[in-house]
Amino acid sequence: MFTLGIIIASDKSFKGDRIDKSGKLIKEFMEKNNYKVKRYTIVPDEQSLLEEELIYMCDDLNLDLILTSGGTGFSRRDVTPEATLNIIDRYAPGIAEGIRYNSLKITSRAMLSRAISGIRKDTLIINLPGSPKAVKESLEFILPSLGHGLEILK
Ligand code: MTE
Repeated sequence: MFTLGIIIASDKSFKGDRIDKSGKLIKEFMEKNNYKVKRYTIVPDEQSLLEEELIYMCDDLNLDLILTSGGTGFSRRDVTPEATLNIIDRYAPGIAEGIRYNSLKITSRAMLSRAISGIRKDTLIINLPGSPKAVKESLEFILPSLGHGLEILK
């Protein structure tokens, strides 16, 4: 059993203008696969707020894994990769590369995600795109290898 934090990066979901389907999907999918969701939060696309939340989940809650969703594209408000890059100690590019590699077989638009993955202290952080479709496709691909990585990190 691994502990999990979910961060939805979305101005629209934060304001209540969009129903957050991706977060629910992440929660259901991961719980089915034996992950325990300890915190699930919706944050606007503000780099400083995203960094604060990431640091809280890593340093105070000491979670095994954080999955972010949204804010990885080309809009000026998309700053999730920058927030993540700013707070990680070690870059773990293979996961984001793997997601893009697999997703490109489904849609060439996967090249538009700037998502990254890395480690802060004992916590692995993975950026996922924002749409429920992209979240599902990404999680199905990474899940089989995730546990092994998290075991090594523990
Ligand atoms: N990855 C997968 N697997 N499936 C998708 O449908 N959509 C792409 C990409 N990655 C997609 C995907 C699109 S259209 C965009 S714009 C980028 O993710 C960034 O999404 P975000 O800004 O919601 O994070």
